[in-house]
Amino acid sequence: MNSYIEKVKAMNKNCEAPPLAHVHNYGCQLNVTDGEKLKGLLLRMGYGFTEIPEEADIVIFNTCAVRENAEERVFGNLGFLKQYKEKNKEMIICVSGCMTEQSSVVEKIKASYKYVDIVFGTNAFEKFPQFVYEIKNGRKHLYDNSGPGSTIPEGIDQVRSSSFKASVPIMYGCNNFCTYCIVPYVRGRERSRAPEDVVAEVKELVSQGYKEIMLLGQNVNSYGNDLDGSIDFPELLRMINAVDGEFIIRFMSSHPKDAGKKLIDAIIDCEKVGNFLHLPVQSGNDAVLERMNRRYTSEQYLGIINYARSKDKDFTFSSDILIGFPNETEEEFADTLRIVEKVRYSNIYSFIYSKREGTRAARIEDAVSYEEKQKRMQRLLELQRNITTEDYKKYTGRTLTVLAEAVGKGGEGTLTGKSSEFIIVNFAGDSSLIGQFVKVKITGARNWAVDGELVR
Ligand code: 5AD
Ligand code: SF4
Repeated sequence: MNSYIEKVKAMNKNCEAPPLAHVHNYGCQLNVTDGEKLKGLLLRMGYGFTEIPEEADIVIFNTCAVRENAEERVFGNLGFLKQYKEKNKEMIICVSGCMTEQSSVVEKIKASYKYVDIVFGTNAFEKFPQFVYEIKNGRKHLYDNSGPGSTIPEGIDQVRSSSFKASVPIMYGCNNFCTYCIVPYVRGRERSRAPEDVVAEVKELVSQGYKEIMLLGQNVNSYGNDLDGSIDFPELLRMINAVDGEFIIRFMSSHPKDAGKKLIDAIIDCEKVGNFLHLPVQSGNDAVLERMNRRYTSEQYLGIINYARSKDKDFTFSSDILIGFPNETEEEFADTLRIVEKVRYSNIYSFIYSKREGTRAARIEDAVSYEEKQKRMQRLLELQRNITTEDYKKYTGRTLTVLAEAVGKGGEGTLTGKSSEFIIVNFAGDSSLIGQFVKVKITGARNWAVDGELVR
């Protein structure tokens, strides 16, 4: 890899101005991290960066395959690139990420998007510099078909988009095969990073001043299962919590089947981890959960919630909810509304089921209309809005520790950030506070957020 990086760098040195790269990430934070690694490679190859695809010499669309609408956006945006490439014949267009692990997508690009130069998968970081080199030397197309990952992209520096929030992948891939989900097919089997590599990276980031460390994996709770059983996720959490420095630890996602008392105890014990857990339930109905191959019941799920709240009554949860799994009945959906009411999440991320070719659910004939699913989505969001509004009132009068993240909607002089409970907090403050922890006294709640005043 390094020799190709040097070769491309030497070619780029001969350009009048440094060539520019545009990297557009779709989908989840793990994919964003992959995009940051690709940027790290591009930087070493002598590229600068631009947000404007039109002026780029190399464009990468780092894609997501979880839902159809993300894929449609990629194809739409690829269409736009055609005119740019007509103006700049030297432009190199690359498609990477989860979509490229589906042969139907690669075939479609080959047939209808011939101006795409490089298509490479989730496991081809190492080969990327070579691909760029070959295209720069006259190769027409390169379609990598090495298949989804079996390795870990260790030792590739990232160009991070934030100077105070950093994502740290702890594992790649997924073994769960929820019947609706394409991820296990496009990301391969679970591979955990060595704990010493993770801890070393966290130490380095904290020494650089990062304030939020987000640990990432498709299912962080199976961390270590492939490492001869010597470590699990709660233990890793405790190791990271022991790193010196002022920072907060977040993580996602957690599969409920592997989340138990040990995890909750670690969250409660670790002072750098907020008493908050994103625990995707997907459905509140046991028959649907079984059809989804989720391997827990609603009762087991509620058991985790109750245990956490028995330790801390304000323990906060959020969730992903999948609406309209094939043939979900009105009664089954009503169970989802019921569990949402029981848990009282601080927030939910809800998605209408999207059929993914190759998954088991894709073979099921679905009798429920899309309109009906949209109506269910509205009902769920309405319920959650009421819960959030009601629940957030409890913060009024309390002082929360908040990481100031950006200028707020009110413009200069206003700030927005997140508390350790993952609540969005809006308050007045100077933009020089961005990237720092501040204390905010909460004065009220509205629109999925709370308002407050800086405590000086
Ligand atoms: N359709 C819609 N949503 C999906 N998700 C996963 N697969 C699909 C699909 N086929 C959702 C799940 C998961 C989140 C990351 O994306 O709710 O938790
Ligand atoms: Fe998909 Fe289930 Fe794996 Fe999450 S745990 S990535 S929903 S298969």
